[in-house]
Amino acid sequence: MASPLVDRLIGRATGWDRPARATADAINAFYRALRPVQGLLNGRWLGHPLHPLVTDVAVGAWTVVLVFDLIGLAQPGAGLATAAAVSLWLGVLAAIGSLLSGATDWKDTYGLEQRVGFIHGLLMAVVSLLYVLSGVLRLVGPVDGTPARLIGILGFVGLIGGGFLGGEMAFGFGSMVDHNAFRDAVSEFTPVGRIADLGVGLNYVEAAGQPILVVRDGETVSAIGDVCSHAGGPLHEGTLDHGVVTCPWHGSRFRLGDGSVVRSPATFPQPSYEVRVTDGMVEIRTRRL
Ligand code: FES
Repeated sequence: MASPLVDRLIGRATGWDRPARATADAINAFYRALRPVQGLLNGRWLGHPLHPLVTDVAVGAWTVVLVFDLIGLAQPGAGLATAAAVSLWLGVLAAIGSLLSGATDWKDTYGLEQRVGFIHGLLMAVVSLLYVLSGVLRLVGPVDGTPARLIGILGFVGLIGGGFLGGEMAFGFGSMVDHNAFRDAVSEFTPVGRIADLGVGLNYVEAAGQPILVVRDGETVSAIGDVCSHAGGPLHEGTLDHGVVTCPWHGSRFRLGDGSVVRSPATFPQPSYEVRVTDGMVEIRTRRL
């Protein structure tokens, strides 16, 4: 849910929705052809989203630029101009990774979340261009030129606004947050139904109040969390193929054996459960590491 400030500023700005949807559709079409790139930029290999990591590098590098430039403006000849320029380009490099990874995470959003993310991305793109302009002026002119420094300071002001909206995406909308983060463990073996009553394939059950996907294949039964870690999709409505479940919402894939992510956009694994069958009754508990 959006914070009251964002709701007031962007809540009614529906004019952004059409370009946002068209952009998300174009990114989705791109990734249908190039799935491995999506996993790389979502951060599946990292075990959590890549975007905050590269964003931190850009924000840190540009904060250094701001501090050095302010010192340079207050004390001409302080000798920090070259260090500021190097930090600026490091920030630009990180910003490229940040824009690409952010767009990859954002493409699977909807409604107000999509609109806020679109404006956040546009703002960050403008900020990046301002820093590129500032960096080029430092290359072709004096490295401690006042116009380059002022453009950098302007970029930092935009960075604060864009960063605020980025925080809203994570903390207001829970974008790319593990949707099982607050789920309790099933600490003891808990009965979920008789094996004879389970259909072959995907079944939804609950144990100790937790939503669980139970998969029966003959006499073999496996179980993982039913709520997709990416954005909360119902896995029991997905599809099953060779021990891998595909989420019906955005196509994340999870291995039944241990809940691990086989394909993004999910980056966090599913809760995984041990299963035993006692006198025909299926019992599960959270898998112990
Ligand atoms: S909710 Fe997005 S892939 Fe499952």
